[in-house]
Amino acid sequence: MSMERVDIAFEVNGAAVSVCVPPVRRLSSVLRDELRLTGTKIGCDAGDCGACTVLVDGEPVCACLMSVASAAGTVVTTVEGLANGRLSALQASFLDHGAAQCGICTPGLLIAATALLDREPNPSETEVQDALGGVLCRCTGYRKIVAAVMDAGRFASELSTDGIAPHPPAGTFSPYSDGEKDEAPALASPSPRLSRGEGKGEGQHQLQRLDLDLDRRMPISGHAVGSSPIRLDGLPKVTGGEKFGGDSFPADALAVLVVRSPHHHARFAFGDLDAWVKTRPGIVGVFTAADIPGKNSFGVIAPFADQPALAEGYSRFRGEAVALVAGEREAILDLDLSDFPVRWTELPYLLQPCEAQAGGAQLIHENRPANLLTTGFVERGDPEAALSGAAFVVSGAIDTSYVEHAYIEPEAGHAYMDGDTLVVVACTQAPYMDRDDVAKVLGLAVDKVRIVPTATGGGFGSKLDVSLQPLIGLVAMKTGRPAALAYTRNESMISTTKRHPAEMKATIGADADGRVTGMVFAGDFNTGAYASWGPTVANRVPVHASGPYATPNYRAEGRAIHTNGPISGAFRGFGVPQATIMQETLYDELSEKLGLDRLDFRLKNCLRNGSETVTGQRLEAGVGIAECLEALRPHWTRALADAEKFNSANDSRKRGVGVASCWYGCGNTSLPNPSTIRVGISATGDVVLHQGAVDIGQGSNTVIAQICADALGLPLEKFRLKSADTAITPDAGKTSASRQTFVTGKAAEKAGGALREIMLRFANVSEKAAIALDGTSLVIREGEATRHIDLSTLKADADGFVFRAEESYDPPTLPLDAKGQGKPYAVYGYGAQIAELEVDLKLGTVKLIKITAAHDVGKAINPLLAEGQIEGGIAQGIGMALMEEYIPGRTENLHDYLIPTIGDVPPIETILIEVPDPEGPFGAKGLGEHVLIPTAPAILNAIRHATGVLVTKIPATPSRIRAAIRDKEAGR
Ligand code: FES
Ligand code: FES
Repeated sequence: MSMERVDIAFEVNGAAVSVCVPPVRRLSSVLRDELRLTGTKIGCDAGDCGACTVLVDGEPVCACLMSVASAAGTVVTTVEGLANGRLSALQASFLDHGAAQCGICTPGLLIAATALLDREPNPSETEVQDALGGVLCRCTGYRKIVAAVMDAGRFASELSTDGIAPHPPAGTFSPYSDGEKDEAPALASPSPRLSRGEGKGEGQHQLQRLDLDLDRRMPISGHAVGSSPIRLDGLPKVTGGEKFGGDSFPADALAVLVVRSPHHHARFAFGDLDAWVKTRPGIVGVFTAADIPGKNSFGVIAPFADQPALAEGYSRFRGEAVALVAGEREAILDLDLSDFPVRWTELPYLLQPCEAQAGGAQLIHENRPANLLTTGFVERGDPEAALSGAAFVVSGAIDTSYVEHAYIEPEAGHAYMDGDTLVVVACTQAPYMDRDDVAKVLGLAVDKVRIVPTATGGGFGSKLDVSLQPLIGLVAMKTGRPAALAYTRNESMISTTKRHPAEMKATIGADADGRVTGMVFAGDFNTGAYASWGPTVANRVPVHASGPYATPNYRAEGRAIHTNGPISGAFRGFGVPQATIMQETLYDELSEKLGLDRLDFRLKNCLRNGSETVTGQRLEAGVGIAECLEALRPHWTRALADAEKFNSANDSRKRGVGVASCWYGCGNTSLPNPSTIRVGISATGDVVLHQGAVDIGQGSNTVIAQICADALGLPLEKFRLKSADTAITPDAGKTSASRQTFVTGKAAEKAGGALREIMLRFANVSEKAAIALDGTSLVIREGEATRHIDLSTLKADADGFVFRAEESYDPPTLPLDAKGQGKPYAVYGYGAQIAELEVDLKLGTVKLIKITAAHDVGKAINPLLAEGQIEGGIAQGIGMALMEEYIPGRTENLHDYLIPTIGDVPPIETILIEVPDPEGPFGAKGLGEHVLIPTAPAILNAIRHATGVLVTKIPATPSRIRAAIRDKEAGR
């Protein structure tokens, strides 16, 4: 039944608009779908995330909570209206500070901050936190956002002298210009000209008028590596021009709804689907597993692939997809699925690994006895003998919870047929893996599927697995029409992967001198209903559970166990963050028994060049954990003294300080994971970089280009990016496992070097020659001689290149044997963090005071982006430690599932350590996973330092902390 429509008039960004829509429609939906102002984002449709924040008569409101009828006669400003031909000072400040990573939250934050700055041009940190408290960001850790807002005034004055208007500009963009889905950001010329000064600290960068077009060029002179240019893909993130998964749906696309299981475990049967469709105008069809033309089974690790795109009569977890409904957009918007013809028969279910492992437990997959997916194992020396001979031994057990990725962009995309090729345009971390799984499920040849990644609004591991890609692909194939789907927040949370809950036990022993002699670790990881990345977690954990410490006698086992819970997959660290909580909390207990300072104890035992790991890998060079711990020492000493002083003056609140370390092998564990980079010179004098490493906010678009620029010897400003597209860019592998800077960066270094060599050989000069591009001239200088090569006279190949190079790199690793001995990774990254906090002993609440993080990145290719990764990872670690607990059926939205807000992240001091690894490009190592790993154990150790109790069920919520304190007081 379609709703009555009325004409509603209001003003948007300075232009009068009128729409004819049902009056109850959300303002956010009207802005995006009717006016095509897709800068306003949808993260929840429930007032929880703030991504949809717009100004209505100057006040920030959640556009998803406001009916369009209520907007009648008002003046609305969206992110597209913030720039008046040129960036506002706030937008410029966001770019300069690196305050936008994936950028999905950025429009909402810019709008909320604009309202604040209108009232208070020089806000305090508290005022910024209050004003932005309703807008969630999952990537940045908020610190650079706070800095950017507080610093905007400086840009206002500087920019006004540069002729760039201070904020807030009146909107001049007409929403009616609409139309083209890939239209450039709504900025009038001339374009903004920004550069980050080199070699300056945070807050010292000056805006300069240099050549920056809207086409992703970046100005910078001198060396690109080691500087922090404004990210190459930054501009559209602050203008609202960035196109995420849900921002470029074709106007004629069918909308798709997914029917999902409401039960943890159930059988189901459909009624008369045809009759149901026929009685619903505008509904085009219903599609089930019976319609799937290929193999109805996908999975990120081929030998374990087990997940149907649409379940076949039997569903294994709450939220599993069973059918698709496709129809015209308006019909789908009005559709009531409550009478969809499906009959459910609920079955007994198993949610805990112990239930799933109990004798006689029903099997979730017939071919996996005891519901065991797989086991990972590492053994070295004789751990039992070492522990029985140890002077001091500690043992413990810790359980962790499901953690939701909670990226602000729910999965979204559209698909269409281009001749006989299926094109899927969607957010993703792994376009080539998506292509292979979509082709398999839909029975297509791999070269008949093209994946075009959109900007991805956060991923953190979950967007490595396909989600809606085969579903929209199926509808497009079956109907011949484009098919579009944006998951709701609820279906994103119930249907996609989580961090594995872990049940861990460990024992560690040390000799009387404080040297660790042995360790035994066992962890059960709840991998949920399907395999996803369970095998990777089971294998990675035993390799890493020692932490970055020499452990001569060792046994660790990781088991991935199926339940009817949500699917556990990849989430920043692949199980290592959980295992590190176990190990690092025991390290605190052990150092206490030994009477050693906790930092000293870690330094005494940490890996060094020449050490052997628990897999027997000899680390010849590049081991930087000692440097990280040493860099923390002055902060440690100061923090301990501060806490002692505070505690001697306070009884009900106590301060604590904790430290923890991390190490993490970059790239796949003992498996090939090559990246290929193509780079060439066009006849027009551009360097064109085919950069297939998907940038999900972490910065690979910029970092890979920086590496290539220096290897090639040409400035970054000459670079043009061709971002990931399986039909255009070579395969740079997936964005996961902290591999892009290292692996794809190495391929970019090789490709840049090869291209340079080709040009030098062409010019018949030595490798010492300098090259430059001047218009269409390639200028080559050696000694006194200068040679000009007119590129426009050379024959270009099919890609438009007159010179080209393509290089691959695959890290040299060796397989692990039956005892887990071998060389699983070519490069490791290291880090250590200190948490300072205050606990209210009566309430059990924790107030974080400061986190200090020292991370060995080998070489900071882009220090600002590295800092951004560290701050963002720490925020996720804070969430894991203190608040995040996904419970199926109970916390399936961003209201009940809490992630850190801007007020939850304390000041963070970052120390970048550069111990180069000979294998990495310019010595660089990966960083993305590492940054989250030490945070939670450092916080738990600080809580223990403050209170004397270790919370053993994570997250350490106030009630758990209180209960632990009560137990201790009661002598339990
Ligand atoms: S608050 Fe409106 S989309 Fe989340
Ligand atoms: S940058 Fe804020 S959610 Fe990604």
